[in-house]
Amino acid sequence: MNAEDVDRAASEAVASVRAADDLESLAAVEAALGAKSAPLNAAKRSLGALEPDQRKELGRRLNEARAEVATAVETRRSELAAAARAELLEAERLDLTESPGGRAGHLHLVTQARDELEDVFVGMGFTVAEGPEVETDWYNFEALNLPPAHPARGMWDTLYLDSGEPGTVLLRTHTSPVQIRVMSESEPPIYSVMPGRVYRRDTADASHTPVFHQIEGLVVDRGISFADLAGTLEAFTTTYFGRSIHSRLRPSYFPFTEPSAEFDITCVFCGGDGCRSCGGTGWLELGGCGMVHPNVFAAVGYDPEEWTGFAFGFGIDRMTAQRNGVDDLRELFTNDIRFLEQF
Ligand code: PHE
Repeated sequence: MNAEDVDRAASEAVASVRAADDLESLAAVEAALGAKSAPLNAAKRSLGALEPDQRKELGRRLNEARAEVATAVETRRSELAAAARAELLEAERLDLTESPGGRAGHLHLVTQARDELEDVFVGMGFTVAEGPEVETDWYNFEALNLPPAHPARGMWDTLYLDSGEPGTVLLRTHTSPVQIRVMSESEPPIYSVMPGRVYRRDTADASHTPVFHQIEGLVVDRGISFADLAGTLEAFTTTYFGRSIHSRLRPSYFPFTEPSAEFDITCVFCGGDGCRSCGGTGWLELGGCGMVHPNVFAAVGYDPEEWTGFAFGFGIDRMTAQRNGVDDLRELFTNDIRFLEQF
């Protein structure tokens, strides 16, 4: 065998390696190339019969050829392994976007509104807190400066639950008990909103439902003033309802705030001109608010000389119904799919 024979044998070997189209046939090619009778192996054995000079020359060439073939085998092996892996991935691919067909659901109108409200307040730096719907009298009333037999308890038509001790466990009538829970569990400063479901002993009609949703806000810090409350509600109003809608405050009464106010927004139907929806006033009533009463701070162990704060709360359902042209609040709770699908 001479140098040309070696070159030819090498290129044939490389060609057979490249021709292998899967890992199994590559293994067969490798076995064949490893056999004693394979040209490059036979040539190696025949070196002994050559003159030293020729032997050296051909030996070097032969080593090069064997290295080329070995490299070709490794290259082909990784190509085929990659192809096999890709094929396996493709075969085992799960299409997670595939829809089983039928109709996809979506969030309830009130849930969408609650999420948007949370987003606005979170954007203003508030955290979101929640509390239980079944409450004790202490959280729902007493700690909120409504001792037993306080006449203002009449502002909330309460559904009591039978707990063994009469009148101590109830369905919360507002989200304000969550203020008490948040304050009892943490130290000021507090900037939180507290959305949730509330219950009143009401007969359902187009504008009342015994279950509805509120969102409450609570700020406790040093040096908080009524101006901070007004500014926060105005910032919320323009962000949530749009730049042309503003807020105003009217004196009111809540036992847990002093001073207390009712807050209104520009009528979203007439833009403030006066229409049927706002009774000609140009304003829609949204909720209640005020500066946290010192007795409320005392109930949770905060020093009213050190801490100041404000709270506000409003209903989500009526506001959402108005904004979406829903004229009967009961629609929000009867879960008629034909109604829900529209939003
Ligand atoms: N909890 C009051 C209600 O349900 C609303 C309110 C919240 C008023 C916070 C003042 C401060 O009517």
